[in-house]
Amino acid sequence: MTEACTLIIFGATGNLAQLKLLPALYHLEVSGLLTPDMRIVCSGRTDYTQESWAFHVREILDEHARDPLTAPNCDSFVGRMHYFQGDLKDAQTFENLRALLAERRFPDNHVFYVSLPPSTYGGIVESLDGLGMLAENGAWRRVVIEKPFGASLESAQNLQRKISRHLREDQTYRIDHYMGKAMVQNVLVSRFANLMLEPLWNRNYIDHVQITRTEQLGVGSRAGFYEGTGALRDMLQSHLMQLMALVAMEPPVSMDADDLRDEKVKVLKSVRPIHPAAVHAQAYRAQYARGEIDGEPVPGYLEEPNVDPRSVTETYAALRLYVDNWRWRDVPFYLRTGKRMAEARTMVAICFKQPPKHFFRSTHMDRPPPNWLIMSITPEESLRLEISVKEPGLEMKTRQISLDAPFRCEHHAQTDAYEGLLLDVIEGDRSLFLRYDEVEWAWRIVDPVLGVWASERDYVPTYPAGQWEPEEVRRIFNKEFHHWRHLVDPE
Ligand code: BG6
Repeated sequence: MTEACTLIIFGATGNLAQLKLLPALYHLEVSGLLTPDMRIVCSGRTDYTQESWAFHVREILDEHARDPLTAPNCDSFVGRMHYFQGDLKDAQTFENLRALLAERRFPDNHVFYVSLPPSTYGGIVESLDGLGMLAENGAWRRVVIEKPFGASLESAQNLQRKISRHLREDQTYRIDHYMGKAMVQNVLVSRFANLMLEPLWNRNYIDHVQITRTEQLGVGSRAGFYEGTGALRDMLQSHLMQLMALVAMEPPVSMDADDLRDEKVKVLKSVRPIHPAAVHAQAYRAQYARGEIDGEPVPGYLEEPNVDPRSVTETYAALRLYVDNWRWRDVPFYLRTGKRMAEARTMVAICFKQPPKHFFRSTHMDRPPPNWLIMSITPEESLRLEISVKEPGLEMKTRQISLDAPFRCEHHAQTDAYEGLLLDVIEGDRSLFLRYDEVEWAWRIVDPVLGVWASERDYVPTYPAGQWEPEEVRRIFNKEFHHWRHLVDPE
């Protein structure tokens, strides 16, 4: 049974809250998953009255809700809201918030959602604790922290040191919205609910693994955040590393939060450290230049608002990693992410080894291509298995066929990753949230690359917006025939 709670969103007027959190909460309202007395306190610096905030929320929902708004749902949702204006740098703001939350209309279980830049996390937690607002006297207190948790190994360690003085680990919900995506969870289910793949899921049969998230969007208005972040920290250290952990992990003892996270940590811990001298062989970065997306001209990264014209911040990053354990030793895991690329796509592509012997050498056949298993996460949500078969006819020729299975049928409701994750926080389920050691190990993996890139500040390769990455990226492949799998269906 879900307990009533008050959800406090710090940064409620910001991008994430407006594009994701408020619509996700509204969808939970529509599905009847919020308890009747749950309240939402939206905190921001802008000066809204309760009425103008309610009006603004309706506008947001009008634009971002999946289905047309209905008056009963919308009224009930807006009725839960309270706008709280304040500057979080000012100690008085927290005093005011404490007084507000003490009012009887706000249930005593509190979720604090910090949807603000990472530099604020430590201070907010400290201020809340300073006023006793994190103490659990018969009611629970939970704090949701967005990524990135730190900007390097050292800063993550410092942040953790600071936070852990005020907050227990079981009160801390480090969110990575990828873990809330149904298709990402499906990586786990496909592996552990079906025995068929398990015998093949190792270095004996898998040649290499590719994990891709490419976007067509550019940095937009987020340069303030992105300039000091770049693709490696923004996407690869977090989302793609989580995906890799799910692909590579051993079956957990159970699906309980700690059992699941123990196995993910074991994968990250097993990643072979990249020696600084090997960074150029195992990592590649690039930045988008002016180009075209869907036939429309778009500016290069350096021309985006608030970007330093000499910036070498990468908008594309690719890595070759090895998970040095019994199952995966020497199997390359290629991870890549980029903005303003030819297509927007998220997928895990598993390339199997060739059969040990090419039986049909005396025939007219070329060596058949390897088997691929593609788990497509966006835009298609599907599984695809490619195998070679004989082409009909008298000649001994092969061709590739594929078994394609969409993951979603028409009657399946669409949900956003944040819906499930917000519900998990309210219900106290931490399985899909990151434990500190996962974050720390992920930083350990990318830290040497960040170090080398930070010292090389005079040049970064570019790619025209709307195209795939430069050919030069091939230097991270360890075999000549490796190539990026750009599409689910190559035809
Ligand atoms: C965010 C990054 O975490 O993920 C953004 O900060 C990125 O830069 C976004 O665009 C991508 O998320 P998704 O769900 O569209 O793959």
